[in-house]
Amino acid sequence: MTPQSCVGVLGGGRMGAGFAHAFLLAGARVVVVERDDELAAAAGVRVRESLAASVARGTASRDQAELDAALSTASDVAAFAGCDLVIEAVPEDLALKTDALRRVEAVLGAGAVLASNTSSISIDALAASLERPADFLGLHFFNPVPASQLVEIVLGAATSPELAGRAREWVEALGKTPITVHDAPGFASSRLGVALGLEAIRMLEQGVASADDIDAAMTLGYKHPVGPLRLTDIVGLDVRLGIAEYLHAELGDRFEPPALLRRLVAEGKLGRKSGQGFFTWEES
Ligand SMILES: NC(=O)c1ccc[n+]([C@@H]2O[C@H](COP(=O)([O-])OP(=O)(O)OC[C@H]3O[C@@H](n4cnc5c(N)ncnc54)[C@H](O)[C@@H]3O)[C@@H](O)[C@H]2O)c1
Repeated sequence: MTPQSCVGVLGGGRMGAGFAHAFLLAGARVVVVERDDELAAAAGVRVRESLAASVARGTASRDQAELDAALSTASDVAAFAGCDLVIEAVPEDLALKTDALRRVEAVLGAGAVLASNTSSISIDALAASLERPADFLGLHFFNPVPASQLVEIVLGAATSPELAGRAREWVEALGKTPITVHDAPGFASSRLGVALGLEAIRMLEQGVASADDIDAAMTLGYKHPVGPLRLTDIVGLDVRLGIAEYLHAELGDRFEPPALLRRLVAEGKLGRKSGQGFFTWEES
């Protein structure tokens, strides 16, 4: 990444603000586009605040003035003209993403790369409406972006093989580790993570062990940093149920959501964000 590299971010919410931060620290110029001017300004404030925290901690390689000058915000995708890479991070909705990606592609120059941060939608389904599917791929970042180590590079059937190598270089320039996955439901991370989480819920449902003991089996026995039930609470039971329903439809009965998961979601027990899930969260 150089100060001449231009990275566009469509949707400056939780994830988009995170990529903007990461690419700015890696040395790029970043353009964040939101739905309207007010949201664009708010996204700019979010990114600048998180950059200021990195500068204050002494972990930023550029000073605040340089970082501020390298960030711009807009409410029109025309601001992406001239960008080398644009990552879409609008909400997880096929129609919304398809429309947004088409509009961005139309302003990008030949050779520019378009990526989606979708956590579950098929890259091939998103590529189907694009003019240049060879220049499109998934870049699945994890939350919170600045602290997470992994980026899943998702290759569609039409993604050019050369792009896979460039994507690895970008991810490494951010100080993160890439894994490469061919487009498949749940990619690698969600498919494995949700499989473990659903089995843990079934074990709790069947009275095999308490939530604490099921989690300790994985944290102490297998050195997972967080147990599968606590992680489901952190992600959100509703979010996990949505992914499980999608994987159930695509991959079969081993992903059937347990009745306990459905019941807790129906009762509004969504995990950390609601204060109660498999555990009680005092701080929410
Ligand atoms: N939050 C996570 O833990 C996480 C992790 C990995 C991937 N993802 C994926 O990242 C994507 C974004 O998730 P998020 O958590 O950042 O959502 P978010 O709701 O925090 O942010 C989405 C942003 O997109 C903006 N937006 C909506 N429509 C737009 C449009 N047409 N043009 C420009 N901006 C628009 C919204 O104003 C909002 O700021 C989703 O696909 C999600 O599945 C999320």
